[in-house]
Amino acid sequence: MKVYKIGIIGCGRIAQKMATTLGGMKGVARYAVASRSKEKAEHFAREWQFAKAYGSYEELANDPEVDLIYIATPHSHHYEQARMCIGKGKPVLCEKSFTANARQAESLLAYAKEKGVFVTEAIWTRYLPLSLKIQELIHSGIIGTPYTLSANLSYPVSYKERIQRPELAGGALLDIGVYTLNFAAMAFGTEIERMESSCLLADTGVDAQENITLFYKDGKMASLQSSIYAKSDRMGVISGDKGQLIVENINCPQSVRVIDDDYNVSAVYYAPQCITGFEYQVYASIEAIEKGWLESPYMPHAETLRIMRQMDELRKSWGVVFPCD
Ligand SMILES: NC(=O)c1ccc[n+]([C@@H]2O[C@H](COP(=O)([O-])OP(=O)(O)OC[C@H]3O[C@@H](n4cnc5c(N)ncnc54)[C@H](OP(=O)(O)O)[C@@H]3O)[C@@H](O)[C@H]2O)c1
Repeated sequence: MKVYKIGIIGCGRIAQKMATTLGGMKGVARYAVASRSKEKAEHFAREWQFAKAYGSYEELANDPEVDLIYIATPHSHHYEQARMCIGKGKPVLCEKSFTANARQAESLLAYAKEKGVFVTEAIWTRYLPLSLKIQELIHSGIIGTPYTLSANLSYPVSYKERIQRPELAGGALLDIGVYTLNFAAMAFGTEIERMESSCLLADTGVDAQENITLFYKDGKMASLQSSIYAKSDRMGVISGDKGQLIVENINCPQSVRVIDDDYNVSAVYYAPQCITGFEYQVYASIEAIEKGWLESPYMPHAETLRIMRQMDELRKSWGVVFPCD
């Protein structure tokens, strides 16, 4: 069996979680890391047992042994870094939000198609087994006809530079609101008639707290909330005319409770034991590479692009502008 040599661009917080994940996976090797600082890359490589450390992202992409590159930098930098990797023929697993805006996403996806190189958005929720179970439960009719959904995700992350600054494509929406939009999309699909929203801006001009309501063509409604100040309960509730599904942690579902017509718990489903949950997106990328696919069925390019467009529209209505827009 081939062992996939993974390279990581950006030696920050989430790169550490990926390093932990790769260490517990089968068929992958913690191969190379790259940072803007050679010392930082070397330190990270030593700490997490990577074979190679590079002082520039381009050197990592030039390494012929790298099979898959995970991009773990601020949203503002995903476009140019992913483009550079794709240009060198390297498959890419790029952290969410995929790019800073839809124009960049469109251009990047077209470039990957032209080059015949795999790229996918590392929005881990989409690849998790319990996320897929939620879709199955909705379609099974166990809660009757679904009508409403509420979901929230908030963490006190306003102190982070990449969240505060418009040049880094900061704000709540691209960092955490994106999960609420994906949760709604996985449960209720894509046929949205209109969106209503309101937002509180931070002093730096990025969105800090927001409420978003999606009205669907078939009469469904989704209410979503995120904030960079609060620590929320991360719950998702999907209600039908015969019951509810209560999802603990919409970001990485831990459990799903099925509530029946009499408000009794009729079933509970738990996430299977995993390393961190990041492994599913890595295995999905490897599956796609092996099968010669340019995208992953778990997060099709069309979905990545649709959600980027949704976020552009929301930001526009709030007056949140990034220099790259
Ligand atoms: N899936 C999840 O659960 C999850 C959770 C958190 C974040 N994320 C995503 O992961 C990505 C990175 O987030 P993070 O929290 O890991 O970020 P971070 O620790 O702040 O930064 C990650 C790396 O990006 C580079 N970087 C930081 N600030 C920069 C700047 N001003 N200009 C250029 N490069 C800069 C640095 O790379 P060098 O090594 O070159 O210095 C840094 O190590 C984002 O897309 C975020 O949305 C995902």
